[in-house]
Amino acid sequence: MKKLIKNGTIVTASDTFLADVLIDGEKIIAVGIDHSDEGVEVIDAKGKYVLPGGVDPHTHFDLPMFGTVSSDDHYTGGKAAAFGGTTTVMDFTVMEGNNIQGSLDKWHALAEKSAVDYSFHMNLNHFDRSIERQFKTLRDNGITTLKVFTAYNGRLRLDDGGIFKALLAAKEHGLLMMAHCENGDVIEDLVPKALAAGHTSAAWHAYTRPKWGAIESTLRMAAMAQQADSPVYIVHMNAGGEADMLQYARQRGVKVMGETCPPYLFFTTQDMERPDGAKWVCSPPMRDKEDNTRLMEALSNDTVQTIATDHCPFFFDGTTPILYEGQQVKIAGKELGKDNFTKIPNGLPGVQDRLPILWTHGVGAGKITMNQFVAYTSTNPAKIFGIYPQKGCIAPGADADLVIWDPEKRIKYGVAHSHQRTDYNLYEGWELKGYPEKVFLRGNMIVDGDKWLGKKSGGKFLRREEGMII
Ligand code: URP
Ligand code: ZN
Ligand code: ZN
Repeated sequence: MKKLIKNGTIVTASDTFLADVLIDGEKIIAVGIDHSDEGVEVIDAKGKYVLPGGVDPHTHFDLPMFGTVSSDDHYTGGKAAAFGGTTTVMDFTVMEGNNIQGSLDKWHALAEKSAVDYSFHMNLNHFDRSIERQFKTLRDNGITTLKVFTAYNGRLRLDDGGIFKALLAAKEHGLLMMAHCENGDVIEDLVPKALAAGHTSAAWHAYTRPKWGAIESTLRMAAMAQQADSPVYIVHMNAGGEADMLQYARQRGVKVMGETCPPYLFFTTQDMERPDGAKWVCSPPMRDKEDNTRLMEALSNDTVQTIATDHCPFFFDGTTPILYEGQQVKIAGKELGKDNFTKIPNGLPGVQDRLPILWTHGVGAGKITMNQFVAYTSTNPAKIFGIYPQKGCIAPGADADLVIWDPEKRIKYGVAHSHQRTDYNLYEGWELKGYPEKVFLRGNMIVDGDKWLGKKSGGKFLRREEGMII
């Protein structure tokens, strides 16, 4: 039976208007007024907003690191995403050896249980002729993005020559390069010196990864994009100076785009100085108040293109189990680094938090408009990553991935509301106004208030095309 979402206010990246949305099967077939109720299932959205499902282009589910594994798998992470209004996620595959197809096959097997639609990016931890030849394999698999690192020396980092060559090859295959920007050499010098001086607490994770390394590396990547004439997308922008570099390059026509994540808008190194500071340890680290402000300003004035999560959760106390879907779960986490900040698993939860936090503290606070909210969290990532207008869009022909958003719903947010499989929430106790009420994935309601109607393997792998440079 067709479904009609009636009387809602549609919010897209460019417009806000009253209209009904008619859904047939997995697709939106009409958007407008005066649809007949006859023979259709009516869902009343009066007084609510109707948004395109969120697209989170940066997650790490089931990611082995630091002798443990990120604590959400592709099912629990997708479920948490859905409760927060996100219906598409893009996860980073680990490149194993020299075998791109083998690495992808492994990620396909892990992600098969995804509760929302999904795609992958390929981490590039080395680059040579053999890898270059396999770039075609990525396109054959419907994957159009790679990630390089200017940090993590000896593990993930490529030197500038390698990055430049990879950019040239990426261009030839219509692939977009994503870049993790920090200065690996500076970090490698500072970390052992800090440890030798007896500095072991969580905040030293931030002090040994200075923001100027992120800033110069962002400009370096933009400069390489220009020299290779190959576009670059800067992930998890954390320093205000990175926004300045992005703006500088974009104003000069460089094909560079940028992403930030909510924690970089709201938290600082001061949070990492708390006794539970390990909760905020991720790479790149939290910065300062002025960085929060500058990054938010970069969203207000459209300098930055997307807001992702870099969701990579760990337990704060992985020795104590939590209850998840009726099962006791415990996964080693941040406690691994209680005596040494270099052993704290790097990463934060956030895939569910992204939309609700930004709604209240971005839109509600008057920093960004509702249309910018939709652009950053759904439409722009869909465009950049080659799934628009299938995703990120409310129009006939698009997938019926929709969120009925209740702007009046008030919540004291925190771990009790969260379906992220971890024992803490960064936004514990935050007062929110505005929250997803119903979430549809390809026409099926998967969240209804606090009820989970989705399922394991309910998500589909998305074959992507070459994206847009926006
Ligand atoms: O600390 C983080 N962000 N872990 C995930 C890996 C990355 O660099 O995005
Ligand atoms: Zn990264
Ligand atoms: Zn990441």
